[in-house]
Amino acid sequence: MHHFHYHGDELYCEDVSLKHIAQTVGTPCYVYSYQTLVRHFRAVDQAFQSIPHLVAFAVKANSNLAILRLLALEGSGADIVSGGELYRALRAGISPKKIVFAGVGKSRPEIEYALKSDILMFNVESSSELRQIDRLAGSLGTRARVALRVNPDIDPKTHPYISTGLKKSKFGIGADRALDEFKLASSLPNIEVVGVHKHIGSQLTDVSPFVEALKKILGLIEQLRASGLDIQYVNIGGGLGITYADEKPPLPQDLASAIAPLVRSLKCRLILEPGRVIAGNAGILLTQVLYTKDTESKRFVIVDAAMNDLLRPSLYDAYHEILHVQRRAETQTRRVDVVGPICESGDFLAKDRTLPDSHPGDLLAVMSAGAYGFTMSSNYNSRPRAPEVLVRGNEMYVIRAREQYEDLVRGEVIPEFLAKLEP
Ligand code: LLP
Repeated sequence: MHHFHYHGDELYCEDVSLKHIAQTVGTPCYVYSYQTLVRHFRAVDQAFQSIPHLVAFAVKANSNLAILRLLALEGSGADIVSGGELYRALRAGISPKKIVFAGVGKSRPEIEYALKSDILMFNVESSSELRQIDRLAGSLGTRARVALRVNPDIDPKTHPYISTGLKKSKFGIGADRALDEFKLASSLPNIEVVGVHKHIGSQLTDVSPFVEALKKILGLIEQLRASGLDIQYVNIGGGLGITYADEKPPLPQDLASAIAPLVRSLKCRLILEPGRVIAGNAGILLTQVLYTKDTESKRFVIVDAAMNDLLRPSLYDAYHEILHVQRRAETQTRRVDVVGPICESGDFLAKDRTLPDSHPGDLLAVMSAGAYGFTMSSNYNSRPRAPEVLVRGNEMYVIRAREQYEDLVRGEVIPEFLAKLEP
């Protein structure tokens, strides 16, 4: 459910027309719906209300300060994977007591920053990381709360690039080694073991991999408790899928019905790290048709957004629905590639897509772009990054300005010996 709808033949975000947004901030630009974000957050939070839980939004999905702030006001915590994400989460007002830190390669400054911020816990991915956190906590005179990320070796049946819970992946600690690693963790003086973490992949469209993975983890928690460890938290990661095309992912409520009873029996506090299910369908990428071009084999619709703005189609061959902001009743449809201006054949937003006829100047909405859209954007081809707009009712707010050429060269320096010479 989202709040992008046609009013007559014109596409709106809540009560603001996308045409008005394009006229005001230009294109390409990201547009997010406040109501949708709130609704999605509450859907997850309320689904699990029968058990003690924390929803820690996966900041990597959408890290804009305004979005994090509105989620913070709803009670969200944050799942972070870098010092930069920690900085954003704190700047947005998310309590450190609701922040969990994942990732296989946390650097020393990042660990120190998180220890000083007194975050809820680290999700630790290896014994060498564990020893490093122990050392750094010791030198700061503190103790680090940790969960160990266990790799349950479950196939989430999603795109290989976003599946993380198989043996061959770099993530987590193998289930066979988990007991030993927990023993090591509990023997370290500056480590307090508080939980078990897992995340098996993203864009899951079935509850069964969640249940299978959780059952493996629950078995482990029982063993750990039997050996005297006080496991208070179980973190099931993120991964709930959304509808991009015709997928029928489970609702948060379906996930809750399947797993809440298992968690309840253990008397653990549950942590969830949803990203996509909250932000994905709450945002779109608004773009304008620049040209159309017919070649022998096909028609290209060339738009002003590109793979630097939305990488998912190029990287994962991901499908994003494309809608005309202004519907025209009588138009014929055509099979086209929607492509951007970047000098790469992989620069496309849609391939072999049947769309109503497009003309230069038409506005297109690339749907389901609220998660892993702006956050994966870059300045490739020296393209300034797009602005972000938040719509609430009939108000729109620019929550990130369009980058200017000056922004592109910020921090770059021409050394004196080059500057003084004449070309
Ligand atoms: N927790 C951990 C430890 C994660 O690695 C991730 C995502 C999440 C939570 C959030 O997962 P979600 O609920 O959003 O599925 N760039 C890819 C997605 C990569 C996801 C990486 N980890 C994409 O555009 O599909």
